[in-house]
Amino acid sequence: MVLLSFLTQFAVGTNLLAQVPLVNSFALHGRAAATLDDFIASESPIALQGILNNIGSAGSNAVGVALGLVVASPTKENPDYFDTWTRDSALTFKALVDAFIAGNTNLRSLIDDYVYAQAQLQALPNPSGDLSDGQGLGEPKFEVDGSAFTAPWGRPQRDGPALRATAIIAYSRWLISNGQTSFVTAVTWPIIANDLSFIGQYWNWTTYDLWEETLGSSFFTTAVQHRALVEGNALAGQIGKVCVACGQAPQVLCFLGSYWDGNHIAGNQNEDNQRSRKDLNTILGIIHTFDPSAAHCDDTTFQPCSDNALANHKVVSDSFRTVYSINAGIPKGSGVGIGRYLEDTYQGGNPWYLGTMAAAEQLYDALYQWNKIGSLEVSPTSLAFFQDFSPTVATGTYSIDTTTYTTLTSAIKAYADSYMALIQKYTPADGSLAEQFSRNDGTPLSAKDLTWSYAAFLTAVAARDGVVPASWNEPSGNTPPSVCAGSTATGTYVAPTATAPLPPCTAQTTVAITFNVADTTTSGENVFISGNITALGNWNTANAVALSAVDYQAEYPRWFVTIKLAAGTTFAYKYVNEGVDGSFTYEGGANREYVVQGTCATEVQIHDRFQT
Ligand code: NOJ
Ligand code: NOJ
Repeated sequence: MVLLSFLTQFAVGTNLLAQVPLVNSFALHGRAAATLDDFIASESPIALQGILNNIGSAGSNAVGVALGLVVASPTKENPDYFDTWTRDSALTFKALVDAFIAGNTNLRSLIDDYVYAQAQLQALPNPSGDLSDGQGLGEPKFEVDGSAFTAPWGRPQRDGPALRATAIIAYSRWLISNGQTSFVTAVTWPIIANDLSFIGQYWNWTTYDLWEETLGSSFFTTAVQHRALVEGNALAGQIGKVCVACGQAPQVLCFLGSYWDGNHIAGNQNEDNQRSRKDLNTILGIIHTFDPSAAHCDDTTFQPCSDNALANHKVVSDSFRTVYSINAGIPKGSGVGIGRYLEDTYQGGNPWYLGTMAAAEQLYDALYQWNKIGSLEVSPTSLAFFQDFSPTVATGTYSIDTTTYTTLTSAIKAYADSYMALIQKYTPADGSLAEQFSRNDGTPLSAKDLTWSYAAFLTAVAARDGVVPASWNEPSGNTPPSVCAGSTATGTYVAPTATAPLPPCTAQTTVAITFNVADTTTSGENVFISGNITALGNWNTANAVALSAVDYQAEYPRWFVTIKLAAGTTFAYKYVNEGVDGSFTYEGGANREYVVQGTCATEVQIHDRFQT
């Protein structure tokens, strides 16, 4: 378990928050560090722990923080980030929900705490308004004890409810597929429904952008609003509800298209503050609306591999090449530090860790999608992007078996990794991730231990490993209406009744465990799992269980098998390679260990990497 170990790292222990990072891995960080893979392996548990430390009430950096609230950072002065932002919290919990679904079952109680805390905040009157007409949902941040923040601020910010709906919808869909629809109907749906109502009613009203500075329309906000309405509609259908607000989705999509300005996405429109529209918010909007089920590189929803999204990636990332001295001399097609936008002066206006990782994540998402589709297209719009990797490339569609495809995708993988290599370079020896790193020398600056930086690390690494988030039904929501209109749907708002702790579910007695192992094999080889219990053949390779390669892809060499085991079973296991000659070879390293937990989950995924 090397690269993917963070997903299952905490699956065996009982006290989640008592887990600490591997102290002996610290030496790997910093400028003298080893390979990027080594850095990622050691940084992954640190990033997860960095998030947990910032969540109340038990997080070590969250003293005095109410249950389920996330502080943006423990830094209390210059800048004071010891508050809870709806945006940062939702992006963080979306990453945790995805890690939970990918196998870290211990995260469940924390997710329930988040759901409970958000139910309280929704009903709280605040300077943006209250719940009676939904306006209070646009409040960007709250005090850590769960009371309203009353000082002047850039409010409202209309991305928060959409991001929160997305996080709780992802959890709800897992609950439904694990037989807990009644929990969704009673607890999570009322919260989601308020947020969807807010989007349907106010999507066409001006908003402060995610940087809390510009009043107008922001690509990021519109993109995440559209996504939430589409997946909200699908969830409503699954539980027999009707989402009136979701009927606005086609109009929001129409408006989304208007951010395209011919060669890149305009970060803002209708803004009160004239500055470059080349903005990191576009790349963030793209990665947070990626749908791995999209059948093609869809331009209407700006999928990561679409022409428009690739052209935008180049324009935005190139815009930072000349503004920061640490980027000087780095050639095109090689990663640079990415900040919020060119003219930014906030806390020195430096590159951001989460921005630099977002640039990598879009490329990992695109690589995943091309690989799945089996081809990539170079169009007049995306030509300049591809020319950074192959100056002579011509427009056209290149199938996965062509040399051009291989040349381009290997270069783009290296390009994505070069952004992560900068993160490696500018991460201090203790693995902590701040908000910014100095434009002059890469020293960490501004807020320390930024929760969002850690969450951005987890999502970028998951994308790099091909562990993609669930679909949001992009194919059902990608058709704009023939005529665009700034319509609205007046919403209904009801105070959610979620109480803590959330009602218990039935603990499972049998759990279907899917063992996934990344293992690059050659034709004729097979992979088995062997272990010290009967179901795994009692260490006898003749009785080992064969894994399937039906989902095997060169980039993501996945072998898997699902085995039902009784809750409480403790066992040791290893993967075994069967050579072309029929001989069995156990993977290297110590035995892997696992305890089957009788939680609510009927299905659990384990992600491993074959140890050589
Ligand atoms: C605080 C906000 O969090 C930050 O994004 C903004 O740049 C500054 N205020 C200045 O408006
Ligand atoms: C400032 C950022 O601009 C904003 O997006 C974020 O929500 C806050 N800091 C808190 O991290």
